[in-house]
Amino acid sequence: MASMAAVTTALPFTGPFLLAPMEGVTEPCFRDLVLERNHPHELGGAFTEFVRVSDAPIPVRVLAKHLGDRRHPMPVGLQLMGSDPLALGQTASNAVEAGAPLIDLNFGCPSKGALAGCAGSALLDDPPRIEAIVRSVVRAAPGVVVTAKIRAGGRDDLRLEDLARAAEAGGASLLTVHCRTRLEAYRDTADWGRLERAVAAVSIPVCGNGGVATHGDLERLIERTGCRFAMVGRAALGNPWIFSGRAVGRAEAAGFLLDYVVALRARAGATPRGAAGRVKQLLGHWTAGELVGADRRSWLMETDPERLFERLRRAQQPGSLAS
Ligand SMILES: Cc1cc2nc3c(=O)[nH]c(=O)nc-3n(C[C@H](O)[C@H](O)[C@H](O)COP(=O)(O)O)c2cc1C
Repeated sequence: MASMAAVTTALPFTGPFLLAPMEGVTEPCFRDLVLERNHPHELGGAFTEFVRVSDAPIPVRVLAKHLGDRRHPMPVGLQLMGSDPLALGQTASNAVEAGAPLIDLNFGCPSKGALAGCAGSALLDDPPRIEAIVRSVVRAAPGVVVTAKIRAGGRDDLRLEDLARAAEAGGASLLTVHCRTRLEAYRDTADWGRLERAVAAVSIPVCGNGGVATHGDLERLIERTGCRFAMVGRAALGNPWIFSGRAVGRAEAAGFLLDYVVALRARAGATPRGAAGRVKQLLGHWTAGELVGADRRSWLMETDPERLFERLRRAQQPGSLAS
């Protein structure tokens, strides 16, 4: 539908690289730390974790909590996941009231819960429903940018172009493509040729996602595929500076994780054990600042939260060596 494509709204991103939505990670505490440590000309925006929408619309106060109370030069998109166009539309209208500058729709989550609710990646088998959902949300949130995030397909990538065109026809202003299929889950390999296919299939901007490990990969993805934006997920958990490409030292890396502990305790009410669990989740991916190196196992085996925090404090001391 050319008429819907014609009303797409200008994208608010401040730079070409985006922090991916990640459930259990990109809540306000982690997101704010990453947004504060990167320049808006590089890190152009971020997303909330997905908000699951079943039958009833999600209230404004819940959506506002996902958006968090801090604002940055870069926009934070509120991501919704569901299968009911009406409930998603009503939630989108609440999202506008909650102050969301952008609404992203999740058509990629491979979890059993998403599949059971015919949401997320279940919709990759149903392009017309993707189109209907996007259209309903676009209509319910006039003036707010609506974007869609798909995988390359369900069992295979044969319908990639259909999926991309469905999102465009519904009125999405940007299409993010995670280049793996649902079946491929989070496999190590990533076929960027699929991103090129998506770029060729639609006239809206495409954001490429999947398999970015370094800052150089972000730039390469854009050069090789023609995508306007590049999104990074797991590599940002291990290196929050990946967007700027700045190499940080051991002390600065440890400082990030300690700031994360403080934010989780003060802003999210996390217990020491809860905060330590979150830090260890990042340590499982950590590559920045030669903090972890070959010693990852001993960091992850640390069961006492205070000992873990103390180890980070020692690493933060100038001139500290790997421990
Ligand atoms: C822990 C975790 C949680 C995720 N949660 C979401 C989510 O809430 N919404 C979404 O669209 N994708 C989610 N994803 C997928 C990522 O956004 C991204 O598409 C995927 O990790 C591929 O990018 P990467 O290879 O750079 O990690 C999640 C991925 C991970 C690892």
